[in-house]
Amino acid sequence: MTGITWLAAWPAEAGAERAAAGFERAFYAAPTGVWAAPGRVNIIGEHVDYNGGRCLPMALPHRTYVALRPRMDGIVRCESAQIDGRWQASLHGVAPGTVSGWGTYAAGVAWALRLAGAHVRGFDAYIDSCVPFGAGLSSSAALEGAVAVALDEVTGWGWADDDAGRTQLAAACVRAENQIAGAPTGGMDQAVALRAQAGCALLLDSRDGAAEQVPFDLAAQGLAIVVIDTRARHANADGQYGARRAACEQAARLLGVASLREIADTGEREAALATLTAAGRRDLVPPVQHVLGEMARTDAFTRLLRQGRLDAAGPLLRASHLSLRDNYRVSCPELDAAVEAALGAGALGARMIGGGFGGSAIALVRAGQAGAVADAVAAAFAGAGFDPPAFLEALPSSGASRVA
Ligand code: GLA
Repeated sequence: MTGITWLAAWPAEAGAERAAAGFERAFYAAPTGVWAAPGRVNIIGEHVDYNGGRCLPMALPHRTYVALRPRMDGIVRCESAQIDGRWQASLHGVAPGTVSGWGTYAAGVAWALRLAGAHVRGFDAYIDSCVPFGAGLSSSAALEGAVAVALDEVTGWGWADDDAGRTQLAAACVRAENQIAGAPTGGMDQAVALRAQAGCALLLDSRDGAAEQVPFDLAAQGLAIVVIDTRARHANADGQYGARRAACEQAARLLGVASLREIADTGEREAALATLTAAGRRDLVPPVQHVLGEMARTDAFTRLLRQGRLDAAGPLLRASHLSLRDNYRVSCPELDAAVEAALGAGALGARMIGGGFGGSAIALVRAGQAGAVADAVAAAFAGAGFDPPAFLEALPSSGASRVA
């Protein structure tokens, strides 16, 4: 089929040049440097990070590039190739609830780093990105991660030098996103943006922040992951995300545990579901079923990965999707159509990824099958009257770094 859109990742030099040139046009000066951080795909472990669970994301080669120059007057000015106009604020006025708009992701990181003790005194930044915006591929965490390593370096803070420091930077990014940008997300996206290593998936334990780099060599197993950006964007995503998170927290309170992870670890699944039902909260049963089932699937997937048996992992992805669709209810017609069409074209497994209500799905395919799967998904979308989807190849890449 013709007319399929594959979104290629920019080579680092090209991204750095674009961001630096944009900076010079916007601010009539050269930036101090250019930093970049990746978007991500979560292979499995969806909606478990804020429940203390393990998830298995990987960084994409698609990155957000931030050309930045520090200022001493407390002002933050941001421009982006993807968004019209300038976002500007005084850092002294940045606090929860005082600022809004896309620049909060950048200024929020400055606010969080200042709280942690870094001497951030303002900056100018120009942002350019090949992470598709609003595609559920964590363009916001990529922006936060790139700004975090930039400010870390220009202030001489030095946290980006090792994984322990990067864990602190990720925590600052989560604080920025939760409190300044106002999105009640967990920590998966920021962790992978800052801590990922090329060639590996990041097995992240959200209970204590521990992360393990697990080699993820799809090509060696004759496999590939195709990312399907459905181009469906849902405006109510934040409210729905917060509602799911609140339901899980309520369930944990009723069950007398700090997080649903404790139920997964003790294996008291049926007893927990019975307790919720007896408490008159039958409505909490399906979300809890999703979370506990997804924790088990993530462990099973990780075992197959370590055994070099990813070709047997397809049914776990499929089951994850069905649970997100039917128990957690965060899918949408475009995501369902993408998954069904990919499976129909012979994908080993497929599922929606990220928060849901639009965004992207992934398909695990045999090498050489990616084109046929993309064709089938595009044809299904055309048949259903959906906007054409876009496709990306997922190659496990590295976390945030300086690129120029
Ligand atoms: C979004 C959030 C993450 C995570 C996923 C769902 O991407 O930012 O913290 O909760 O949704 O797994």
